[in-house]
Amino acid sequence: MKSIILAAGKGTRMKSETPKVLHEIMGKTLLGYVLDSVTNICDENFVIVGHGAQKVEEFVNKNYKNTKTVLQTPQLGTGHAVSMVCPYLESFEDDVIILCGDTPLITEKTLKEFTDFHKKSNSDITVMSTIFENPTNYGRIIRNSDNSLKCIIEEKDASDEQKAIKEVNTGIYCLDWGKIKSAFKDLKSDNAQGEYYLTDIIEWGNSNNLKVNAFILTQSEESFGINSRLNLAQAAKLMNERKLNELMENGVTIVDPTNTWISQDTQIDKDTIIYPSTYIEGTNKIGKNCKIGPFAHLRGDVEIADNIKIGNFVEVKKSKINSNTNAGHLSYIGDSEVGSNVNIGAGTITANYNPLTKVKSKTIIKDKVKIGSNSVLVAPVEVEEGANIGAGSIITKNIPSWALAITRSPLKILENWVKKFI
Ligand code: UD1
Ligand code: CA
Repeated sequence: MKSIILAAGKGTRMKSETPKVLHEIMGKTLLGYVLDSVTNICDENFVIVGHGAQKVEEFVNKNYKNTKTVLQTPQLGTGHAVSMVCPYLESFEDDVIILCGDTPLITEKTLKEFTDFHKKSNSDITVMSTIFENPTNYGRIIRNSDNSLKCIIEEKDASDEQKAIKEVNTGIYCLDWGKIKSAFKDLKSDNAQGEYYLTDIIEWGNSNNLKVNAFILTQSEESFGINSRLNLAQAAKLMNERKLNELMENGVTIVDPTNTWISQDTQIDKDTIIYPSTYIEGTNKIGKNCKIGPFAHLRGDVEIADNIKIGNFVEVKKSKINSNTNAGHLSYIGDSEVGSNVNIGAGTITANYNPLTKVKSKTIIKDKVKIGSNSVLVAPVEVEEGANIGAGSIITKNIPSWALAITRSPLKILENWVKKFI
């Protein structure tokens, strides 16, 4: 199966210089969520780009294999957008799934159910519909008296009677491409918006004796589209709630689900406790029996084994931490590999970035190392097994196994010195 993801629109209401689909929720772009939802279903994806095309192209080329961007200029509507892919799929005869780049809540599970329905019902065109109490702005699903699908009418073209219909088009379709591809040259733009509507393929299918069906999505929030910054915050909240519920069901304690953020791509094993005000973004893996937070920040590409403590005001990025290690307070661990049974004292920092050369370097801390509070490990640097670092040290060289390293200046005590002033 192939996918076509529509992402050429302007996203005016975001009021942003960033293309809408590149806005992020917990460290991942909206388009990233949509592309990830089809990776296991489709072997090739086409992203239709237009507004901010260059940035979207860069993002896709850097992060997604088997994914082509196709430029649509000018943007003459959703039907016109899909037709841009026709030259690439001239000889393709199988199913194509169409989605929008701004609906990040759609899940792989739902898409599998949807495409299974399409196949099992032997449909040529399946549209995903859902029921909204407030259907304003969506295309309405119009059915015949025998309940079969007749057409989709856009809000701007709808009569008052049609506007009262609560079954709407989510903008997700599955098409038997071999039978549908010739529809695009027949689409007309004689509607209220003067656009080539993709939704017109329903009527086209009916008049060409194709089998047209609707799949009703029961969890309607999965089709929630982002049009504004408010929508972005609402979607993030929905996604987070979904994630926290899933984690709790799998044996993770979330002390305060109203005040914890965990990204979709974070795996957490059972009996780990996440304390309030923790923010976990990007892709991470956390083992069992860990204690994370309160006020911990995991920034992605973090791998934490079992029985680990990441305490308050500890930030971790792109690092691997082995079992039974503690970083209890006020630390930054970035671009690091940390062994097991390590103690990272309060205020310890890995200085991984040189802002002059813009180079990021690695810190390697082997098993059983003890790092005294307020130490700075200036990367690239390696601390071998069992070494001990005295509090307040600045470590700029590799430290051998079982050594004590200490850069602290000697303590001076000037007896009665204060008395000179009183
Ligand atoms: C569309 C559907 C509507 C459905 C709704 C669901 C049509 C005619 N209408 O309406 O039935 O209820 O989605 O959200 O399809 N895009 C392009 N190129 C274009 C125009 C749009 O790539 O020329 C992209 C947009 O970036 C967006 C998507 O297509 O990702 C949908 O476009 P939008 O203008 O938001 O469609 P709606 O009017 O909301
Ligand atoms: Ca529109």
